[in-house]
Amino acid sequence: MCGIIGYIGNKATKNILLEGLKNLEYRGYDSSGVAILGDNIQIVKEVGKIENLKNSIAKQELQGNLGIGHTRWATHGMPTENNSHPHFSNDKKFAIVHNGIIENYLELKEKLQKLGYKFISDTDTEVIVHLYHYYYNGDMIDTLAKVIKDLEGSYAVCVLSEEHKDKFVVAKKDSPLIIGLGEDENFVASDMPAILKYTKNYYLLEDGEMALINKDKVTIYDDNKKIISKEVLYFDFDTDLAEKNGYEHFMLKEIFEQPSCIKKCVSKYIADNDVNFESFSKIEEIIKNTKNIHIVACGSAYHAGMIGKYAIENLARVRVNIDIASEFRYKNPILEKDDVCIIISQSGETADSLSALRLAKENGVKVISIVNVFGSSIARESDFVFYTLAGPEIAVATTKGYSTQVFLLYLFALKLAFIRGAISKDQFNAYISNIKQVENDINESLKLNDKIKDIANKYCHLENAFIVGRGIDYYLSLESSLKLKEISYIHSEAYASGELKHGSIALIDKDSLVIGIITDESLSAKTISNLKEVKARGAKVLVFAKEGIEGLEDVVDDAIFVPSKEEFFMGITGIIPMQLFSYYVAKERGCDIDMPKNLAKSVTVE
Ligand code: M6R
Repeated sequence: MCGIIGYIGNKATKNILLEGLKNLEYRGYDSSGVAILGDNIQIVKEVGKIENLKNSIAKQELQGNLGIGHTRWATHGMPTENNSHPHFSNDKKFAIVHNGIIENYLELKEKLQKLGYKFISDTDTEVIVHLYHYYYNGDMIDTLAKVIKDLEGSYAVCVLSEEHKDKFVVAKKDSPLIIGLGEDENFVASDMPAILKYTKNYYLLEDGEMALINKDKVTIYDDNKKIISKEVLYFDFDTDLAEKNGYEHFMLKEIFEQPSCIKKCVSKYIADNDVNFESFSKIEEIIKNTKNIHIVACGSAYHAGMIGKYAIENLARVRVNIDIASEFRYKNPILEKDDVCIIISQSGETADSLSALRLAKENGVKVISIVNVFGSSIARESDFVFYTLAGPEIAVATTKGYSTQVFLLYLFALKLAFIRGAISKDQFNAYISNIKQVENDINESLKLNDKIKDIANKYCHLENAFIVGRGIDYYLSLESSLKLKEISYIHSEAYASGELKHGSIALIDKDSLVIGIITDESLSAKTISNLKEVKARGAKVLVFAKEGIEGLEDVVDDAIFVPSKEEFFMGITGIIPMQLFSYYVAKERGCDIDMPKNLAKSVTVE
């Protein structure tokens, strides 16, 4: 979590840092700060959003051609000014920002305290700046190399030194860091959107590497301090994707981008009525014979994985185990030769998912990943990667990231089913032409926007919700419930609708809202009968159903019908109404939709 930025060049450093931090704010927003090197290093920090830092900086003279900045998601220590980054060395000659966790910081802290270093924060990070001071020998890279040898854990770190007004240094391990290349200026950042306004050319720093950043030169070193050359990459995204473009929130914009994201996936992955996964031929043999597939992911990506499991098992008849990544790595999973592991991650940086990937590989299992962010750690470390092509997703609550994951999982299931002979060529062709209709179905669902807004306004005052469904609708309920709770702070729980009566129905009363998701016609009568049970106990019942589902009149207070032609692919389309509902409930409740409290977009800590 946390976002970091660095700049060297002739432009107004403080503006570039502030803009960059604003674009990185999705990574954490407990506090922020900048350090700018003029005659000496000046640090300004503020608790809370970047807006507070901006107001504070506006009152100060901050001149200098290089600087570093940080937006924090608190791990060690409360969100206070002292715990905010950048951190100073005791003599104020060095300043650093850090993203990651230093696992051996207590041990290092004790050692440094014995040497006389004074700590002013509760953070793990502060040890880095004192170590840097301790090892400093006039050579910024050599000093950094000594520091990182002592660190255990993860870091993307930038260091400024008062003595060197023409450079700063960075290092990375298990936390992302890119180096943006400009003309007579260079940048570093946790993520490209922070600097997209200035450059699309960048280096991707790998674990163990360090870099010395001058305004007209970037020198990259390996962990033995040997200079290495690197390919310059190009960030091939429209800058508009990182802007709100007239929408009030990124989340709403991203909800409405879903048809075009699906369209991109269709044109990239479907050709000549076939699933055209580049490099799929390389895995075809493995996939063809695999007995078990393991899907591992966190949060919404895990929910996408549940739909993937459903699609793979139903179409290809291959057994799929699914695990939450933070559980998978500690449960001593049974991984057998010829098994395949699918890791799903929008950011490609989620710490638990990355560790699961490494565990699978250590056990000789081939890893396929479904990732949105190009060149992210999970993408790089996988044997095969399929990109979801959703473009930068800024809102913390995922929408287009999720639906494109589900789309690719369906495609994977179809291809697998076909190559294993579980479906005929005719069936395969029919599915492929149907899945191409999903873009239209999403567009139709989005037309329900105003209706859903009205319904959201009606129910937004309730404090508890159950979201229920069966089969695929249960998986949609899980994702719907997460959407609702993370942005509106309404307590909500998802249940397989038949399970409510096994305990939780005790909580139902006249103040409860029960939302039924009914897209699977074959199970609709069962879910409706479960909804009758809660209705009889006074609950308000709201249903999101596929058009054509009957028998709801006596049970619902309100119903929204989703116009879909493709029942099997409702795992993609079926979430749209609940994304909109959650959004409007949160808006009506005055919540900070794009940056919900306590959360961060990229969860790079365990
Ligand atoms: O980047 P990832 O897909 O690996 O992130 C996994 C979860 O943290 C993420 O899906 C999270 O649950 C979403 N913010 C929910 O909207």
